[in-house]
Amino acid sequence: MKNFSRRDFLKTSATAAGGLVLSSGMLSAQKKGGDKINIALVGMGAEGEVLLNSIVKLPYINVVAVCDIWQPRCEFAAMRIMRELKQAPARYTIKITPKDRLTPLVKRGRIGEIKGENYKDLIKNHAKELDAVVIATPDFWHAPMTVDFLKAGVNVYCEKMMSDTLEGAKSMVRAARESKKLLQIGHQRTSNPRYKYARQVLLRDNNICGNIMACNGQWNRAVTKDLTWAEKDTIPQDKLKQYGYKDMNVFRNWRWHKGLGGGAISDLGAHQIDIFGWMLGAHPVRVMASGNRDYYKKPDGSPAHDWDDNVMCIFEFDKTFQGKKAQAFYQVLTTTSSGGGYYESFMGDQGTLKMSENPALTKLFRENNAPDWAPLIEKGIIGKGDEAAANVKVADSRESKALVSYGFPATVPGYEPDVAKKPIHMYHVENFFNAVMGKEKLNCSADHAFEAEAAVFKARDAIEKGPLEFSASDFVVED
Ligand SMILES: NC(=O)c1ccc[n+]([C@@H]2O[C@H](COP(=O)([O-])OP(=O)(O)OC[C@H]3O[C@@H](n4cnc5c(N)ncnc54)[C@H](O)[C@@H]3O)[C@@H](O)[C@H]2O)c1
Repeated sequence: MKNFSRRDFLKTSATAAGGLVLSSGMLSAQKKGGDKINIALVGMGAEGEVLLNSIVKLPYINVVAVCDIWQPRCEFAAMRIMRELKQAPARYTIKITPKDRLTPLVKRGRIGEIKGENYKDLIKNHAKELDAVVIATPDFWHAPMTVDFLKAGVNVYCEKMMSDTLEGAKSMVRAARESKKLLQIGHQRTSNPRYKYARQVLLRDNNICGNIMACNGQWNRAVTKDLTWAEKDTIPQDKLKQYGYKDMNVFRNWRWHKGLGGGAISDLGAHQIDIFGWMLGAHPVRVMASGNRDYYKKPDGSPAHDWDDNVMCIFEFDKTFQGKKAQAFYQVLTTTSSGGGYYESFMGDQGTLKMSENPALTKLFRENNAPDWAPLIEKGIIGKGDEAAANVKVADSRESKALVSYGFPATVPGYEPDVAKKPIHMYHVENFFNAVMGKEKLNCSADHAFEAEAAVFKARDAIEKGPLEFSASDFVVED
């Protein structure tokens, strides 16, 4: 059995470089000097922690400063960096207690001092020495922070959504162009070797699905309660207001509030709607959508959140990379975990590719009338079939026979199956730092991420306004 080699993959990936993603990064070193990449971290909440899990594994990183306006999260990050990297970055946070709780460690030089309160103080003190910043704050802070860092000459990795407004997202694209610095947006699937393999090797080189006429993506999550906080960690009211939060509940649950985040369709949908366009090599031309806020309620019975609990939408594509029309159905449900988790399916007349960041949810299905996949298995392009999956009796003669499911090959070039060794976000983080060192192009530049941003914003508008058309100019940011 021939194994699909890394060289084959790199060769085929080079063809993909003409696609949407790899076209707009730069390939020249953006580092200021020294052996290590000097970085700052801004926003050390849930996602900041996920990114830190990857960053602490990179031997070439020097964390110069950490900023989180919430003291416990800033302390958390400083402690981990102390333990795992033996570094003592300067801290920027709102002091909830007059005395720094980490003073004993600061005195021993193991933890950096609190040198200011926010990212502007950080820029003032450190911009000159910084090669890059990683931003994982709530969406409404992304645009001002990114623009200020880029203007200060610092390359930026910023989480998705780019912004809570289209104008904010545009300002980020323009700032990246004007500063000539790198701006990577956190759609990490675009750097995931399994996704790159699926896009290039399975869909394009081997046409495994035949004509892709429909897509189906979802992210379904069980009911969750609002996030809470310990009384001792309450941020003073005047400070909350200064940073745009009405109260501690809004501070913790910002993603559900207008003016701060974009709700589930943007929070979760942005990743997967991006993947529809990326895999199909096209922009949608039309969207229709429906949503409701009938589950999460305040005690008075009014909706607890500004954004919809559940959204279903359909994007229409006029010309995919195969020159065909296609429809893509997407649903994000926050009231049930039923339906098989999160995935994006590409359904063709010969087969289906069901992709997920979770390899266990990733499957391939061969249509019963399609050419045999044995040669593909033989060449190591796909894994073995599971006949048992097709062992379902038909109840009616007009019913199509169930499909055999197949897996990915045992090894996908560049993919490390042990997530303890290589977390799934790490490929994207490494791509960014490699771009800073001039070794790679960005996989998700601001120009690319803006295309997903435009699709998500219009889907959300379509809930209110009914079906909406896209024009080509919706996906481009003018200078
Ligand atoms: N790529 C992904 O898969 C992924 C997954 C989850 C979240 N995200 C994105 O990451 C970002 C953060 O999401 P989260 O789930 O970590 O939220 P979170 O609320 O857990 O964390 C946000 C952190 O930012 C801090 N913060 C708020 N305002 C700040 C300010 N002005 N300056 C400095 N720090 C500030 C908060 O104190 C908090 O610790 C969001 O944009 C979200 O969309 C991406």
